[in-house]
Amino acid sequence: MLRTILLGPPGAGKGTQAAKIVEKYGIPHISTGDIFRENIKKGTELGKKAQEYMNRGELVPDDLVIEIATTRLLEDDCKNGFLLDGFPRTVYQAEKLDEFLQSHDSKIDNVIDIAVGKDELIERLTGRRVCKSCGASFHVVNIPPKQEGICDYCGGELIQRADDNLETVTNRIDVYEDQTMPLIDYYEKAGTLTHIDGSTGLDNVFADIVSALGE
Ligand code: AP5
Ligand code: MG
Repeated sequence: MLRTILLGPPGAGKGTQAAKIVEKYGIPHISTGDIFRENIKKGTELGKKAQEYMNRGELVPDDLVIEIATTRLLEDDCKNGFLLDGFPRTVYQAEKLDEFLQSHDSKIDNVIDIAVGKDELIERLTGRRVCKSCGASFHVVNIPPKQEGICDYCGGELIQRADDNLETVTNRIDVYEDQTMPLIDYYEKAGTLTHIDGSTGLDNVFADIVSALGE
């Protein structure tokens, strides 16, 4: 069973690697950031609440995120494993997730921590372009699409995320260091953590993840 968390700062490559992991292992990809962006696009109440925090690069309040994530985990497709991306992000969220899983006779099997230096994170995020239709991630220099402004996979329009400007990116990284980094210690103690160097190129990072998760 693969019940996995992808941990790592904004821009570490969680979304990029998640796409490859779900393809290889056939488990659902659960990104709380994606769920919020979907709700913002649809104009739901949840989207309106989340947007003000996201635009500032701050965390959406714990209780709201925990509710969204645990509701998603109850869906049928999570019975044989799942990949969490961007959740949990605070020790409180991690504790609530553990309680939730325990109450369903379940647990987290692996936590992958993808590490990348701050300067590179800033360069990656300010140059990122995402597909408006399928959400695929590109980078203007590092991972350019075959045709500028157009998604390689679905032909959708590539746009810049609202929180990928320099000011918000810097704040997101500070918030990560302050509120999310303590999770490294939390999962180290739980014995489920694997550290991965996220600066070695897309395929090398993926190969390291596969050796941590097993073929
Ligand atoms: P979320 O959507 O989770 O954003 P994030 O954590 O800031 O991470 P990103 O999605 O920006 O980066 P990534 O690691 O996925 O990198 P990517 O693969 O795209 O959260 C957004 C917001 O929602 C939060 O700020 C918060 O407000 C809210 N939120 C979400 N979850 C929450 C929670 N649990 N609690 C509270 N609030 C929550 O790659 C980045 C770039 O680098 C791309 O351009 C990519 O092409 C490039 N790249 C990737 N890999 C490589 C590589 N190996 N080499 C070179 N370039 C690479
Ligand atoms: Mg992401």
